[in-house]
Amino acid sequence: MPSEGAPQGQRKGAAPPGRRPGGGRGDRRTRHAALAQLAEEIRACTRCPLAHHRQQAVVYRGSLSPRVVFVGEAPGAAEDREGIPFVGRSGKLLDDAIARIAPELGSFGVLNVLKCRPPRNRFDLVAARTCRPYLDRQLALLRPRLLVPLGARALATVDPDAPRILSSAGSPRYGPTGPLFPLLHPAAALRSRRLRERWDSDVTALGVWLASGALETL
Ligand code: URA
Repeated sequence: MPSEGAPQGQRKGAAPPGRRPGGGRGDRRTRHAALAQLAEEIRACTRCPLAHHRQQAVVYRGSLSPRVVFVGEAPGAAEDREGIPFVGRSGKLLDDAIARIAPELGSFGVLNVLKCRPPRNRFDLVAARTCRPYLDRQLALLRPRLLVPLGARALATVDPDAPRILSSAGSPRYGPTGPLFPLLHPAAALRSRRLRERWDSDVTALGVWLASGALETL
């Protein structure tokens, strides 16, 4: 679906994560140290029952000063095994998309709403509430200019007022934390030819939108 015109959604007071006030070398070093400490905290977390099912918590991969952060739902079996987000089949599709729009994207990172694999890969709303402060702290320290929520659960987490994913995917919008560009979840694109075509065209739309320079004007 092509992205046209101004982002949908409302600007809502809070400073977007991408504004990067300060941003000098000292500030960067402090943020990176805080991210390392936060990662340790997440890996040791036992705040909800998912901790008892996981092999390991899955924290983040990518640049420590990313321009764009992709937000997935929850680790699957491969991620639980390796401790890295999106390393399974969905991750391959995501990485192919990232490679396709790499020049427009710039630096990026990948994380999930849930840090631990839920049993039977069923997204757990109660665990998501418990886990939420970790996501907020990660985003506050990473300060991306743009969030790309992947799928309905990630979109509902970062922008509860957004229309459903099939209406939101492929277009920029303005959410509570700043600019967003939702995409379908790559696992959905792997399940159906129609959704795979939609995924491909939405990823192209993201590249075109980034190339237009519109993000820098928000
Ligand atoms: N699906 C997700 O939402 N996240 C992952 O890390 C892997 C699959």
